[in-house]
Amino acid sequence: MHTEDSAPLLEIENLRVDYTAGGQKLRAVDGLSLTINPGQTVAILGESGSGKSSTSMAILNGLASNGEWKADRIAFKGEVLNREQLTDLRGQEITCIMQDPSGALNPVQTIGNQIKRMLKYNTSLPRSQWDARATELMQLVEIPDASSRLGAYPHEFSGGMQQRVVLAMALASNPALLVADEPATGLDVTVEAQVFALLDRLKHEFDMSVLLVAHDLGVVATSADEVVVLYAGKVVEHGSVHSLFNQPRHPYTIGLINCARDLDRENVLNPIPGRIPGLEERPRGCVFHPRCSWKTDECELMDPGLISIADQRVACINYEDVSKSLYQDT
Ligand SMILES: Nc1ncnc2c1ncn2[C@@H]1O[C@H](COP(=O)(O)OP(=O)(O)OP(=O)(O)O)[C@@H](O)[C@H]1O
Ligand code: SF4
Ligand SMILES: [Mg+2]
Repeated sequence: MHTEDSAPLLEIENLRVDYTAGGQKLRAVDGLSLTINPGQTVAILGESGSGKSSTSMAILNGLASNGEWKADRIAFKGEVLNREQLTDLRGQEITCIMQDPSGALNPVQTIGNQIKRMLKYNTSLPRSQWDARATELMQLVEIPDASSRLGAYPHEFSGGMQQRVVLAMALASNPALLVADEPATGLDVTVEAQVFALLDRLKHEFDMSVLLVAHDLGVVATSADEVVVLYAGKVVEHGSVHSLFNQPRHPYTIGLINCARDLDRENVLNPIPGRIPGLEERPRGCVFHPRCSWKTDECELMDPGLISIADQRVACINYEDVSKSLYQDT
């Protein structure tokens, strides 16, 4: 494949994901664009149902059978790809780890055979080196007694250790991009922290980029370079992790950050009032207006689209008033 060193790793323009349910086609992701540069971690942040997994599964071309996706443009390492070419990268240049590691592991095959299967199908490594490389990958993900555990079955591992095995499998092909969809949700907090620390170290060792799907702001703040905030299928804010956490501009991002800060300070949760709408209930105008305390009449009529301000992009027609009320010097 022809590549340009300076080119972004992955570019997606105007991604749409639809699901057909009850005879109706409903839009789950509406117009998401993102660019991931080499070595960068880009996080997609949003509440449950915002469309994070639909986005990551579209990129992996692995949507449920009632789902379909379209994009205006997809490019990988500077080369424009069609859907089939993007799918061909899966397992090699693009790999993934998902929320539930047990779903990615075959319960009746040993861990060693599952890693070696990845080496067989996704690398050109000769068979004589598979055992050594499988052991090395197990060591890289910090599984103790790696060589003696190649013969173990998934049920002999804890949830956190299973996720490390899935990570070893995902790294087998030396991918350029790892899609990590809530990889530590469901694990206890200490194990969660270990998984993210490991991911961060391996990202540098393997010189790869990460698309991180998360709903936890702490994880995003420590792991990501850029953040895409998704709400009810729409990107509502996009910017560097620094600007987004220091000067959030969209009322939804502001609500998420305030809510996390309140929880830190007072151990109480002051959630954003209301709830995220289901696919069949998405409102007209600004999709966030039923929950927004800055709402004006136009918000119910007009989809704000993304407006660029410095290095941020924000989907709010009242962003100036919002910013003035919060950051008086802007
Ligand atoms: N196969 C499907 N058929 C119909 N609707 C679906 C399907 N998969 C997801 N949805 C709907 O699409 C919307 C986005 O779902 P998605 O799983 O992408 O959200 P998410 O942000 O990953 O949420 P979570 O944090 O709970 O994983 C939700 O309203 C969800 O109910
Ligand atoms: S456009 Fe209106 S409703 Fe939407 S976030 Fe901005 S102020 Fe709130
Ligand atoms: Mg999800």
